[in-house]
Amino acid sequence: MEDNLRFDQSGYKRKRVEAGGQSIQFRAYEGIRYCLNPRNPIQKLNLYVPETLCQGGAVNGYTLKTAPIFVPNTVGGYMPGPVDEPGVNLRTGEANTIFQALFHGYVVAAPGLRGRTSGMESQEFFVGAKVDVDIEDVKEDTKESGENSGRMVGRAPAVIVDMKAVIRYLRHNKEQIPGDVEKIITNGTSAGGALSALAGATGNSPDYEPYLEEIGAAKERDDIFAASCYCPIHNLENADAAYEWLFSGENKYQKIRLMRDGGEIRLFLEQGYMTEEEQAYSKALKKQFPSYVNGLGLKDDRGDLLLLDASGEGSFKEWVKEHVRKAAQKEWETHDSCERLDKLAVAGSRIGEQDYLTVKDGKVADVDFGAFVKKITRMKKAPAFDAVDLDSPECEEFGTEEIYARHFTKFACENSQVNGAIAEEKLIRMMNPVPYIGKADTAKYWRIRHGAFDRDTSLAIPVILATILKNKGYEVDFALPWGLPHSGDYDLEELFCWIDEICKC
Ligand code: DHB
Repeated sequence: MEDNLRFDQSGYKRKRVEAGGQSIQFRAYEGIRYCLNPRNPIQKLNLYVPETLCQGGAVNGYTLKTAPIFVPNTVGGYMPGPVDEPGVNLRTGEANTIFQALFHGYVVAAPGLRGRTSGMESQEFFVGAKVDVDIEDVKEDTKESGENSGRMVGRAPAVIVDMKAVIRYLRHNKEQIPGDVEKIITNGTSAGGALSALAGATGNSPDYEPYLEEIGAAKERDDIFAASCYCPIHNLENADAAYEWLFSGENKYQKIRLMRDGGEIRLFLEQGYMTEEEQAYSKALKKQFPSYVNGLGLKDDRGDLLLLDASGEGSFKEWVKEHVRKAAQKEWETHDSCERLDKLAVAGSRIGEQDYLTVKDGKVADVDFGAFVKKITRMKKAPAFDAVDLDSPECEEFGTEEIYARHFTKFACENSQVNGAIAEEKLIRMMNPVPYIGKADTAKYWRIRHGAFDRDTSLAIPVILATILKNKGYEVDFALPWGLPHSGDYDLEELFCWIDEICKC
């Protein structure tokens, strides 16, 4: 029988790209179909291979057979993540992540993945960004649209299903594909970081099988070697409670929003104070958090349980604080040598200027945690993720092909101002890496970075992820880089160093 998922070894173009004062030559296999029944044109894969490897040479000790396969994604805001290519990072002017990974000797698989607006491409509101739209308008428009039939084919769990299909495609072609399919390392930021964590946690879980079958994914394993996650916006069904555990009492919120202004998308600062109703949500959600944490049975490095009392105080809080202290300590030791990260840091985050830190004998001895939280400020009003009016990226992510958006917590559903439905329990679980850790074929190696000044989700969320992984025996490199906001790929040299260590050990 003909194998329509066979990798065509001759289907490449030779390319040379210059960026950031460097130049690389590589083979570009672009627009590969990674599943038999794609539901959206975005479901394509670009694969890049350093030319030196193809010529039988080695880069950084890697050959065509042994090079790790680095799988970065471009997912953000749970939007579709288009394929990417080596070039210049438009924000920094430097060589982009794919370029640097190739330069380092990796094979790079850069997939296009469905997201919450896939299927609605013809509708101008959805091009490229989350914008404020009237949900009723969209429902009408999606009913009527012709070419895309208004079917929202990218809703949960499409993004992880596509990622698994990509991993299966690579494995399906293990004899033909450049690189080592047993050294697949995913990488992503924010919603893309959550996706990387999902790929890492859920390897070979049967839960995704019907969806993989639907798109005609190869029948192969989909576990991976390692996951690199920058500020993963994950564990969504517990993220509202975690957010209020951290920020309750801070009623001012501030965020940059994207808005449609005529045909253009503009940035503006949205700020204000939570209403009494929102403050009441905050209090109620904060109360939910201790029972969630206590039910996890987390342990610190000495094996002591990490717990919270009913008011949200206790060893778990000390544990989060300890991660912040360590981050400050590291910055204290290295800040003069770290100009590169300094440029990306939040204004006013310089280590010497933080009066809530107690420094003794050159060591950060203590953090006034309440003052630290005040300093980083609240970004989102309560509930932070599952919005009571369904107007959040996450509610859209949990929509269906027919329903624009749904809730994913009992709390928001019960308090819904728009009579919103709630997504199926199993589906909500399938979008959360945490319950799969150690239950599915979870990646052995993890690198998690979450800026210490990131307020898109509670610091408790990445701490929980890293702690569960460590408790279950996985290798975890976790840190909260000082001063950094919600961002990713800011320390690629260190990331690649970590990859080289785990691949060569
Ligand atoms: C992203 C950021 C958020 O604050 C969020 O709620 C979801 C996704 C992101 O940047 O991907």
